Amino acid sequence: MSIVARHMSRIKASPAAVISARAMEMARAGRDVIALSAGEPDFDTPDHVKRAAVRAIGEGKTKYPPLTGIPELREAICRKLERENGLRYAPDQVLVCNGGKQVIYNALTASLDPGQEVVIPAPFWVSYPDMVLLAGADPVVVPTDPENGFRLQPAQLEAAITAKTRWLILNNPCNPSGAVYSARDIEGIAAVLRRHPHVWVLADDIYEHIIYNGEPFSTMAQVAPDLHERTLTMNGLSKAYCMTGWRIGYGAGPKELIAAMAKIQSQTTSGASSISQWAGVEALDGDQSFIEDNVAAFRERRDLGVSLLNRAAGLSCRSPNGAFYLYVDCRETVGKRTPGGDTIGTDADFARYLLDSEEVAVVHGEAFGLSPYFRVSYALATERLRVACMRIQRACAALSG
Ligand SMILES: Cc1ncc(COP(=O)(O)O)c(C=O)c1O
Repeated sequence: MSIVARHMSRIKASPAAVISARAMEMARAGRDVIALSAGEPDFDTPDHVKRAAVRAIGEGKTKYPPLTGIPELREAICRKLERENGLRYAPDQVLVCNGGKQVIYNALTASLDPGQEVVIPAPFWVSYPDMVLLAGADPVVVPTDPENGFRLQPAQLEAAITAKTRWLILNNPCNPSGAVYSARDIEGIAAVLRRHPHVWVLADDIYEHIIYNGEPFSTMAQVAPDLHERTLTMNGLSKAYCMTGWRIGYGAGPKELIAAMAKIQSQTTSGASSISQWAGVEALDGDQSFIEDNVAAFRERRDLGVSLLNRAAGLSCRSPNGAFYLYVDCRETVGKRTPGGDTIGTDADFARYLLDSEEVAVVHGEAFGLSPYFRVSYALATERLRVACMRIQRACAALSG
């Protein structure tokens, strides 16, 4: 009999992590792989943030931190939420976790019973459905339309809600589509939620700062203050602060939910690293000017990627307003033959073909719940991105039929 629990058969390993690991393995074997698969900025953590961590080590701030997060960081998070989002939370409404990922895991595990449902617009961040499944509940995937810029429409949400719905997960800007919801878009969604008081919103704002259209960022609790009491505002330092390895994320929401999430944390991780938390205080309170510089660099890469990929035979992609991904339509490659004689049947086949033939790693759309697409992360050096896009063009040109 297998040692692995039956409920594990409901979930899979994160496809982006699997593909990135395979790309790394190929690179270690000496191959010139270009990974467009990783969801992390190539920029280094800012020096002033690193120095804060070194200081914390020197000062012996290396013991177990309070399990909900050090007060200094929770206070810095409250200041940030008020300053940037106009949201008022008290420190006891804030939980610091090991990355945004654990905020979401704790929230879903603390709130879901078997048989309940979570509405997830597709394409989605790969971990949402599996975390819902791990909690014993059921993801309800709602495909969005490229014609609507991959944004969930109010009527689609209305149609997806049942008596069993517990959460809507709204990721803005969206990984992988780069879609950005305006205040008006969010108001449209709030209007539906007002008719369904049993449904909560998990606002995943982790790409908040990476927006290109000049529009101010909006989040549910700010746009619809009347829904504040059933919103979990989630954010973290991984993306905007280039701190993926530090593992700091946070959730802010009603006390009852935060306390339940903290209970899980108390019996699992005991919270996030004390050193990373001190670095987090500096990240939120310190100089923010590097963010603008990084976003300007991302914008340039986005424009380069969009223009080169739209010149590849059989591919088309929109210019997204946020995050650092392109969600590329590859439907015209389906049915074509590779030089090796294989037929491209799915976006997964296309991604495999790119990796095998041109050593470019991308993540297939099926992993994000909407095919036939693939996701390109353009968070890498511009010249590498250019070479990768040229290789993709070459791979597309080599297809026949
Ligand atoms: C949409 C989204 N939410 C949450 C996360 C979690 O980030 P972390 O756990 O690094 O804070 C990610 C990371 O890729 C993401 O893309």
